[in-house]
Amino acid sequence: MTRTTSRGEIVCEHESILNVLAVVDRIAASSCTVLVTGESGTGKELVVAALHDASPRATAPLVTINCGAIPENLLETELFGHAKGSFTGAHAARQGRVGAAEGGTLFLDEVGELPLQLQVKILRLLQQREYSPVGDTRVLKCDVRIVAATNRDLDEEVARGRFREDLFYRLNVIHLHLPPLRERSGDVMHLAEHFRKIHAERSGRTDILGFTPEAMEMLKSSDWPGNIRALENAIERAVLLARGPHILPTDLPDRVRRAGASTEVVTDLPLDGIDLRSVVDTYETNLIKQALARTNGNKNRAAQLLGLNRTTLVDMVRRKGL
Ligand SMILES: Nc1ncnc2c1ncn2[C@@H]1O[C@H](COP(=O)(O)OP(=O)(O)OP(=O)(O)O)[C@@H](O)[C@H]1O
Ligand SMILES: [Mg+2]
Repeated sequence: MTRTTSRGEIVCEHESILNVLAVVDRIAASSCTVLVTGESGTGKELVVAALHDASPRATAPLVTINCGAIPENLLETELFGHAKGSFTGAHAARQGRVGAAEGGTLFLDEVGELPLQLQVKILRLLQQREYSPVGDTRVLKCDVRIVAATNRDLDEEVARGRFREDLFYRLNVIHLHLPPLRERSGDVMHLAEHFRKIHAERSGRTDILGFTPEAMEMLKSSDWPGNIRALENAIERAVLLARGPHILPTDLPDRVRRAGASTEVVTDLPLDGIDLRSVVDTYETNLIKQALARTNGNKNRAAQLLGLNRTTLVDMVRRKGL
């Protein structure tokens, strides 16, 4: 299935994403707050665009503010604007992103990076739809839907005292989670084809017609820590490098090729033999990576999953340079 949004197309067959899109359609008409989570590159921004586009707010702006990319001292002004003369150089009053999103959607990207002192102000915005520009005593009302995204584990941030619990609950009214690409590897084929077409056209390589079965197998079995963004980069590069008409394993990035090799579990000794140490090594690496991914890098839990002592695992991770 392909769904067009104002920020690009969403290609998906996997149930998890189809479910997310079904929920998007059900809640689009309301103005409820939505929290979108998922690792980097899983498509959070596209889902936010799908929500905005499907809502009655689509005729008003979708305004994004990346809470992690703007220096802490400028973030408040960016969000709420400022009064004339509120700081040196503030020659005129300026509207912030909240004001710019009036009637539309305010997208707080990387909300986990929001400094504690601003979290209070966002809470007020959520609860009362009220805010004050920097250096201004007025209280302004606004009509925006607030959507937040993060690739952090906000539960853990709350537990560590870095994220306000009350704000977490206010943001988490509807939670949309995008699983990493390695958990929806059935979509790799569709995504790879989608990106091949786009990049073949863009770079004038319309002679590139597809992938060899070996190349496609490698794409499917790679663990894609950078998720769909990394897949797209790999395909863009392969389209440029390929001699055509098909993309070969040698056109793919090294780490994708290695991943393809590591999933081959050797059970019968081939006639010409194997390099036992390297086969066992890739076998171990593969399972350790899976355990770390499943536990979000928590070495205690990963060690449990693998039946190892924590110290043994830490040692192996260091030795293997994972
Ligand atoms: N289902 C999909 N179909 C097609 N393209 C996708 C899909 N999901 C993501 N992409 C593409 O992958 C790239 C990354 O997606 P996006 O920016 O939405 O990820 P993100 O979750 O916001 O990542 P980050 O946490 O790093 O900001 C974009 O170029 C986007 O167009
Ligand atoms: Mg994003």
